[in-house]
Amino acid sequence: MVNAPDQLWWQRAVIYQVYPRSFQDTNHDGIGDLEGVLRRLDYLSETLGVDAVWLSPFYPSPDADFGYDITDFKAVDPRLGTLETFDRLLREIHARHMRLIIDLVVTYTSDQHPWFIESRRSRQSAKRDWFMWADAKPDGSPPNNWLSAFGGSGWEWDAQTEQYYYHSFTKHQPDLNWRNPEVREAMLDVARFWLERGVDGFRVDAAHWILKDPELRDNPPNTAPRPLVARSLGEYDSQLHLYDKGHPDCHEVFRAYRRLIDSYSTPEQPRFAIGEIHVFDWQEWAKYYGVQLDELHMPFNFALVGAPWQPEVVRSVVEGMEGALPHGAWGNYVLGNHDEARLASRIGEAQARVATLLLLTLRGTPTMYYGDELGMVNGVLTPEQIRDPWGKNDPALGRDPARTPMQWDASPNAGFCAEHVTPWLPVNPDYPMRNVATQLAEPRSMLNFVRHLLRLRQNSRALQQGTYRTLESAPQGCYAYYRSTESERLVVALNFTDQEVSLHLPSSGRVLISTHMDRNERFERELVLRADEGCLVALG
Ligand code: GLC
Ligand code: CA
Repeated sequence: MVNAPDQLWWQRAVIYQVYPRSFQDTNHDGIGDLEGVLRRLDYLSETLGVDAVWLSPFYPSPDADFGYDITDFKAVDPRLGTLETFDRLLREIHARHMRLIIDLVVTYTSDQHPWFIESRRSRQSAKRDWFMWADAKPDGSPPNNWLSAFGGSGWEWDAQTEQYYYHSFTKHQPDLNWRNPEVREAMLDVARFWLERGVDGFRVDAAHWILKDPELRDNPPNTAPRPLVARSLGEYDSQLHLYDKGHPDCHEVFRAYRRLIDSYSTPEQPRFAIGEIHVFDWQEWAKYYGVQLDELHMPFNFALVGAPWQPEVVRSVVEGMEGALPHGAWGNYVLGNHDEARLASRIGEAQARVATLLLLTLRGTPTMYYGDELGMVNGVLTPEQIRDPWGKNDPALGRDPARTPMQWDASPNAGFCAEHVTPWLPVNPDYPMRNVATQLAEPRSMLNFVRHLLRLRQNSRALQQGTYRTLESAPQGCYAYYRSTESERLVVALNFTDQEVSLHLPSSGRVLISTHMDRNERFERELVLRADEGCLVALG
């Protein structure tokens, strides 16, 4: 393995997101659990070959938003395990030389959290100011026009104390008041708790929602067209979100987190944080690195998730990020997560491989979503099966289809849970054909493509840290780029069309991998790509 000494683990790593409720059930309640993640670690580290696991929330939660509404930030939901299971999981991840990143939910609690219960009790409560309470307007309506991201007003009336409280998401997730120093201290202490336990880092949830306009000004209506790479959020898109998130004061909070995280970093264990920041203006996005690179290590770059799948658009995303990265900052890419439609459903199964080749060969840390290595597609749910609160408001925006159980094998319930158990979301009916076991046995499967590519990446300095340069001469329908170091010159060529295309390269070379998994030949200066084919080639 090539170890680039000048790169930190999170710059070199491929991160794999595990949505624990859907990964592996071991105690027969139909909900994935930490023991299940433990059981599948060899799959992640050996079979697949990823370097870091991002574990979505496993904290006690009434499941109004499936783990993102939390009643105790320093515990494990009893359905998912115990702190002891967590510690064992972390140990076993480290024993395999992998890293663990956990979801750090900072913007809201559950309405069942003891802090909110106390806050809600009376206007005089010691914790009243820990949440965002405000008076009604004289006519009784909410204090301003801010919306919940899931639809409807963001304000919920509390009849007992006759004030509204604010929730950026479901009404069961009251937003914390980050302007209160006690809140800040209590929340930093949550991060400290997990750093002490030894986690390698955090994915900071809904990060730029932390601080809002202190004057609670109304958002103006949104008249601008949606950015090309941002997907539709329904009613939420009707406003320009000037005042309800992204207040400049949030940068100071990120600096505080960074100081804390740095204070736990050692040369053996540099700690790391990546923020969930949905900002699609590159200059604005880049600000989240901090002027002195002193905020979260990276803001997630979501531009490829919403991008129309066209070579010009994808190229503009890559060049946009490359151009916006502050000096010394490191970029990242992602194609899917628990909030988005499945990759293979968005762009089609043939192009899903092309997209995965892109993700794993760009300059920057890739994050993969569980099941995408199999080309898993959106589940189809009956109205009664919808669990997601967003999906209940607006089925078109529901996220359950991307959260169906991981498909391990062709046994009933796909190996996710026992045959007699009902999984919390239905297993996708395509599982007898699409599952880990079947794809391992099939040399040209998507899974074998991803495994092989991950190994190539692990052994290539050019892919891990080489330069990026667009190949200008790529034909219509094709996007291609160089990844190079002094001694290694690679080209990635991606055919977005169902027609053959041919590329002229500056020298001869050899195909290292094709998305079709059927060629390794040398070529002269011409590289021919078949329909929906992507190739990684070495020049020279
Ligand atoms: C974050 C999570 C999403 C959740 C939302 C509100 O955006 O990624 O899954 O629904 O926060 O809790
Ligand atoms: Ca379980």
